[in-house]
Amino acid sequence: MDKLNRCRRWGLATAYFLLAGTGVARAEFPEKPITLLVPFAAGGPSDKIARELAESLRKRLDKTVIVENLGGAGGTLGAAKVATASPDGYTLLIHHIGFATAPTLYRKLPYKGIDDFAYLGLINEAPSTLIGRNSLPAKNFAELRRWIAADPTKVNLAHAGVGSASQLCGLMIQSALKAEMTSVPYKGTGPAMTDLMGGTVDLMCEQATNAVPQIEGGKVRAFAVTSKDRMKHPVLASLPTLAESGLPDFSVTVWHGLYAPKNTPGPVLAKLNEALRGALKDPELIKRQEALGITVVSDARVEPAAHKKFVEAEVARWAKVIQAAGAYAD
Ligand code: MLT
Repeated sequence: MDKLNRCRRWGLATAYFLLAGTGVARAEFPEKPITLLVPFAAGGPSDKIARELAESLRKRLDKTVIVENLGGAGGTLGAAKVATASPDGYTLLIHHIGFATAPTLYRKLPYKGIDDFAYLGLINEAPSTLIGRNSLPAKNFAELRRWIAADPTKVNLAHAGVGSASQLCGLMIQSALKAEMTSVPYKGTGPAMTDLMGGTVDLMCEQATNAVPQIEGGKVRAFAVTSKDRMKHPVLASLPTLAESGLPDFSVTVWHGLYAPKNTPGPVLAKLNEALRGALKDPELIKRQEALGITVVSDARVEPAAHKKFVEAEVARWAKVIQAAGAYAD
């Protein structure tokens, strides 16, 4: 090979590595389907939101977004899978408030913590409801309170495992009522809802996403919303808040965010953030979320730095609550 050719080859190879280093070689992202991991069972609120979002992201990224469910241990198993996935943008995590409570709740986490992730933006805020099986003797919260007080250990409280939103909300209700109920963990509130409708368990805190259709269909009995203020949604509007029902200052509102493994290249994160922003401006998606009582967050909150700051504040806020309740998991 003559000297000129060697120089040309060397030049091309150098240019390739330089481009790869700056991320330009990844400008084609995504080149293959993306997996969106839901750390809870199918049929629950996180799963429903993920499936809607996946469809909207698909339109923007022009690639299939496959929803995968890995429930268990309050969402920490699924989060660990994404934390240790290849940081290439092809494995993403949708998670809720449990993302911020798990680092305090779990004495041992199967990943290092919230810094194992790159933040892509907040998605929504979802109020929760306190719902029960239709055959309960109590028709409203005052009657429910008396029924629970008669023998709390006989009350089966369903939830999606330690660290889940339903468990956290249930813990706060028990602590406010000073009543320790029998905890019944599931891999997600999807399967828990099936048992609640079947009358196998008594009570559950469930996000509006999954509760609204069942309340509307008369499949479960609704006692209250757990948000600070009453909801405007037609199915929830007549429900009192727990705060006005005698549990002062009670307030739990769930939120969801989107994450990638840490060290995912900046250009890939930027593309995913742009797609998320676009998805959350989609009038159809906003309408469907609103129909379930959920509020899509404003564009400023679909911003990685704002998302991270919010999560850090939530970790600090819930650490106090969890430490005060001494509610840890091994
Ligand atoms: C689910 O999707 O099953 C729920 O979000 C779980 C939970 O209560 O946290």
